[in-house]
Amino acid sequence: MMNNGKLNRRDFLRYGTMAAGAVALAACAPVAPGAAPAAGGAAAPAAASGANQLEIFSWWTSGGEVEALNALYDIFKKKYPDVEIENSALTGGAGQGGNMKALLETRMQGGQPPDSFQVHLGHELIDSHVKADRMEDLETFYKDEGLTDVFPKDLVDIASMNGKPWSVPVNIHRSNVLWYRTDKLEAVGAEPPKTWDELFAVADKLKAKEIPALAIAESEPGFCGHEFENLLVAILGPDDYRGLFTGKTKWDDAKVTEALTTLNKVLDYANPDYLSTTWGDITDRFMADSAPAMMIMGDWTHGVLKSKNFTNYKWAPAPGTEGIFIVLSDSFGLPKGAPHRDNALNFLRICASKDGQDAFNPIKGSIAARTDADKSKYDEYQLSAMADFKANTLVPSIQHGAAAKQSFVLDYDLAINLLATKRDVAAAQAKLVAAAADAEFEAA
Ligand code: GAL
Repeated sequence: MMNNGKLNRRDFLRYGTMAAGAVALAACAPVAPGAAPAAGGAAAPAAASGANQLEIFSWWTSGGEVEALNALYDIFKKKYPDVEIENSALTGGAGQGGNMKALLETRMQGGQPPDSFQVHLGHELIDSHVKADRMEDLETFYKDEGLTDVFPKDLVDIASMNGKPWSVPVNIHRSNVLWYRTDKLEAVGAEPPKTWDELFAVADKLKAKEIPALAIAESEPGFCGHEFENLLVAILGPDDYRGLFTGKTKWDDAKVTEALTTLNKVLDYANPDYLSTTWGDITDRFMADSAPAMMIMGDWTHGVLKSKNFTNYKWAPAPGTEGIFIVLSDSFGLPKGAPHRDNALNFLRICASKDGQDAFNPIKGSIAARTDADKSKYDEYQLSAMADFKANTLVPSIQHGAAAKQSFVLDYDLAINLLATKRDVAAAQAKLVAAAADAEFEAA
């Protein structure tokens, strides 16, 4: 069933058109560096005060995320002590809560951009903001900073449209990781499952001992979408998975049905309250005595667990994805009309630098986008991710903005959420088919 045909890194992604639609303003206040996000209030553009500021948008509000971003800010503050950093961090970027993305969209459409913002490299930036002519290209910046020599060419290609790069990748994250509690698997004498059938067998053993098998968070659409991209890759294999975004593989394919049916079965082994559980909740539960034995999540989870000094866990490729690396990258770009353009460029310089990446990534759980990272700064998991990134077949993440434009991701999440709520495979697949038609993948 699996197709492990080696894919060219350059082919990693390149599909999709048009900007994301307008979204409603989710009013939330910016957060001071290091602080937790505020619950309400409107974010005023930093430029309004006319002060020497740097306003950065991100959805990094969890453990690991906050500390990693602060590591970049610390370098910035040392170099530019007179600049006041406005940390406009809001929750909800990766899932559909979407506070940060919604507010960003409103600000960008209203001509009030922040100085820079976190955005997934590739479609999420290009289809939403570059095609809408809201970004400055970074061709000169890349040349001046020598970035084409230190980023893998395939990554620069992903950052590019019309031969010019549009954002600076600060990391590489892996989507397809099975995190498991060593003590829980040992309690049932199980090895980490390599296939979905094995996972269900292990889950049955856990169930028999009343140990929660698998943690799922779907309080807002998005993290079941994350599980589902892992299943699609496992069941379709890299080539057919990539074909989903070119029209080559149809979304009504029997293998997509199999992936949906498998996800439906996975939900039987999940925490029964998965519809009201957040990503933060399951990470907290994973550290508790009554922890679920396994969860499939990107390696930002490693950053969170590290930030809590929790060590009682290990990792493996998500079932059926050994030799494959589902990749995504966080990046920062330069909006047209950035109120403090020079400060923004200085921030981008830090994001791009070896020091910046080697300060940020060891904390974030990711690996550096630069090829010259100082390996002594990274831990065992990250060294294994670096090796896999080099050796594995790379495929783009849907959920995290690499494979397809944001409007498709929204529809995809709603389809998978329908499965999570109604447990109706056919209805979910019909929605996926409609979403793919709207996205016009066939024309890609
Ligand atoms: C991803 C993002 C990561 C991490 C994660 C969870 O989309 O790339 O950096 O923040 O969401 O919030």
